[in-house]
Amino acid sequence: MPFKNRITDMLGVEVPLVQAPMGWIARSQLASAVSNAGGLGIIETSSGELDAVREEIRRMRELTDKPFGVNIAQAFVRDPDIVQFVIDQGVRFVTTSAGNPERYTQQLKSAGLTVFHVVPSLSAALKAVEAGVDGLVVEGGEGGGFKNPRDVSTMVLLPLVRSRVDVPIIAAGGFIDGASMAAAFALGAEGVQMGTRMVSAAESPVHQNWKAAIVNARETDTVFLNRKYSPALRALRTEKTTRLEDQPDVNAMTEFGTALDLYFGGDMEASIALTGQVAGRIDAVRPVAEIIDEVKAEFFATIEKLSKQYL
Ligand SMILES: Cc1cc2nc3c(=O)[nH]c(=O)nc-3n(C[C@H](O)[C@H](O)[C@H](O)COP(=O)(O)O)c2cc1C
Repeated sequence: MPFKNRITDMLGVEVPLVQAPMGWIARSQLASAVSNAGGLGIIETSSGELDAVREEIRRMRELTDKPFGVNIAQAFVRDPDIVQFVIDQGVRFVTTSAGNPERYTQQLKSAGLTVFHVVPSLSAALKAVEAGVDGLVVEGGEGGGFKNPRDVSTMVLLPLVRSRVDVPIIAAGGFIDGASMAAAFALGAEGVQMGTRMVSAAESPVHQNWKAAIVNARETDTVFLNRKYSPALRALRTEKTTRLEDQPDVNAMTEFGTALDLYFGGDMEASIALTGQVAGRIDAVRPVAEIIDEVKAEFFATIEKLSKQYL
């Protein structure tokens, strides 16, 4: 059975499953695997390495003829011409995150791009709609990455936002399979975004130690840091992050260390491994195509089972 809704139409994808933008990780190797499997790969810009990003977008066009998008994580933007940079790359779909939706939306839309803004609260969602975005990524606090210090779970946030806006919603935070995707659709989403699941996928470029740590993690093995500061963040429990969890007066960003030594060097104490609670449900490193095929099959099996049971 095919998916058909506003997200598949707007993004031009077969499966309304978006791979999360993630600094250094969301590059062509991972993103092309997702796009080729029918989802939407996203290329990051949060690394700030725009020359590398330009090259990754060029490689995407060699690796796939399917649609893909770009993310602008506003808090990490160093180049004042980031919007023109994104427009120049010829991509059609952009997510903006970690910042004011009024800042880039109109400029991006005037250039013909479809713009979704990532929101962690109802007020942020209403502000983004007011700014004219085409859709929202509604992200619960169980997800990995930088977060609003006042975190709200996807289960609460998604139906709340759905009840107050009409634009299409991609749900993020806690999604790894067809059953959780069906739950998101029941709560009003028309697509899901997966971060932690994609960090641990076979095509993810991160070191085996991070993937193994995700596979071995229990659902209690993430920490929520920096509640007193901004950005807050959710990360894998390690010696370093457990210590920071016990020191709420220390700004964890001052101890972020060298991300690349962790990401690609495999030293799990060198930095902070942004990871969501759903790591507790991931039990194997698997190829993206296998993950997406299984999500599709399980999504339709779930709604069929529910409808048979209750209708
Ligand atoms: C390692 C990592 C890096 C991330 N970097 C970004 C980013 O650059 N921009 C952004 O909008 N979100 C970023 N996020 C958040 C993800 O886009 C996504 O919404 C989140 O991971 C979803 O929750 P999940 O981890 O439960 O799937 C990051 C998440 C992770 C795990």
